[in-house]
Amino acid sequence: MAQAFPAPRPILARLTSRSGPPPAGVHQRDGALVMAVPNRYSVTYLLVGPETVGIVDVGSAADVPRILHALEWLGRPASQVCAVIPTHLHFDHVMGIDPLARALDVPVVLGPVAHRTVQRGRAPRFPDHRHRWHAWAGWPMQGLPFLPERDWRQGLAFGTPWGTNPFRARLAPPLADGDPLPGLPGWCLLETPGHSEDAVCLFHEQSGFLVCGDTVRNFLGGEWNPLWVDAEGFARTRERLAGLPIRTLFPGHGPVLEGPDVVRQVRLLPPYLP
Ligand SMILES: [Fe+2]
Repeated sequence: MAQAFPAPRPILARLTSRSGPPPAGVHQRDGALVMAVPNRYSVTYLLVGPETVGIVDVGSAADVPRILHALEWLGRPASQVCAVIPTHLHFDHVMGIDPLARALDVPVVLGPVAHRTVQRGRAPRFPDHRHRWHAWAGWPMQGLPFLPERDWRQGLAFGTPWGTNPFRARLAPPLADGDPLPGLPGWCLLETPGHSEDAVCLFHEQSGFLVCGDTVRNFLGGEWNPLWVDAEGFARTRERLAGLPIRTLFPGHGPVLEGPDVVRQVRLLPPYLP
């Protein structure tokens, strides 16, 4: 039997997150294959096509060797990687994007808002102080990860309220809502503002797979992220996703969620919960 790919199981995540630390694993249905690779601050997802691989979210420069190991474990050469795609410009999803894209010499693919933000050298808008405590409250449920030296030195220019996201890797032309992901048949990008203005999800309609970044979290059994920047946009995003044929949610934090009615099972938390 094939050896399972190792996943971190930090003790604090086991104690504080009802859903527990996410396992690594391969999910396959109707022409789509996704590998979950839990990393230091968030889960990286590998979208595995017949001859190409797209890599979604790389939170830390320290995640790069684990991702290369995951490719090897899948039996896919690193030369098959066609793009690195952050779901949004928050540091816990993006500090490792530039090092990985440069190591593999592949482009960074962004939605229109993130692309504009990066090109203008501005930080995206962050949630105000009323919501910001959710970010700190969620950190123990992620296992209270510490930043390695390389993230302190270079990573914090990415995805922070003061960071200008100075990518040195090349940027692909921005994708608009509904555009197919180049090189990854069946996958498209959806603009899903709410948690952040630039948030995108990646959707494979035939399989019902949705890689959803921080739009959905799974620390407490599957919940809409309580940290948001745009309440109205988030309400529209929730309604839109509830109308799509989604059967599997791949959240940025916590284990994968599955079921025929999975989006309607995702809870909107009362404001006092983390
Ligand atoms: Fe986020």
